Amino acid sequence: MPAITHRAILISLIDYDAIASCYAEHRQASPRVLAHLVERTAVPPGRILEMGCGTANHLRALSAAWSADGAGFDRSPAMLAEARARGPRLDLREGDAAARFPFDDRSFDLAFSVDVIHYLGGSLPEHFAEAHRVLRPGGTVVTVTDSPEDIRTRSLTRYFPETEAQERARYPSIEAIEAAMRGAGFKVAGATHTAHCSPMTGARLERFRQKAYSSLRLIPEDRFRAGLARLEAEHARGRADLVEVYTYVWGRRDG
Ligand SMILES: C[S@@+](CC[C@H](N)C(=O)[O-])C[C@H]1O[C@@H](n2cnc3c(N)ncnc32)[C@H](O)[C@@H]1O
Repeated sequence: MPAITHRAILISLIDYDAIASCYAEHRQASPRVLAHLVERTAVPPGRILEMGCGTANHLRALSAAWSADGAGFDRSPAMLAEARARGPRLDLREGDAAARFPFDDRSFDLAFSVDVIHYLGGSLPEHFAEAHRVLRPGGTVVTVTDSPEDIRTRSLTRYFPETEAQERARYPSIEAIEAAMRGAGFKVAGATHTAHCSPMTGARLERFRQKAYSSLRLIPEDRFRAGLARLEAEHARGRADLVEVYTYVWGRRDG
């Protein structure tokens, strides 16, 4: 029987069916992620796939930006129900990003994921083999994630320092993502990065209060309350910022 790793335990603790309505209410598409993906994609893709689309917030915005046909899949029926409630135009299906995707061979120009790769544990080879299968030759895969440095510098770690160790245990390294892409046959085009600091608005603060970030559900309740008290005190003094950092790992299917 395979050993149950710390990473596997952390992954199993987050139940998106249970938190779908909280996520849908408090988490929106990141304008930074959307702008970066659009800027870095030279030719607008005709058909795009989001792997682990959740409420499809990024998929919906990118489909509109590129006038592309948007498709997505997720393993959480409740997250998909939230996605469907927000508009009918996307092709949304239930599926596992660590197993066979519910889409045909060579049917997309771009396949992307946002904040999902840390749920796949040791299944990165299967994930990227499937991304390669569903992309057309010339197609692009991009994984939007957090590097160890991103985890160190983001607001979550500043206010809730206990999340850092958990997140380092959950997230694969950028090198591991690149190696899995290469192993699946992608030509790896390297990683890009965005960092943005903006004021902590009331709506953003509410995301923390409601634990709309999964890492806040992995630390002890007393540590969560202590971090929230620090954040609320800084917010009351007008000194709280939201630091959003992302790393984007890019690959291309050549043949
Ligand atoms: C942090 S949310 C991100 C959702 C969406 N990509 C976004 O940017 O808002 C993580 C999503 O990954 C999904 N997920 C986790 N493991 C998965 C898997 N093995 N296959 C498909 N979806 C998965 C969860 O159900 C959840 O919807």
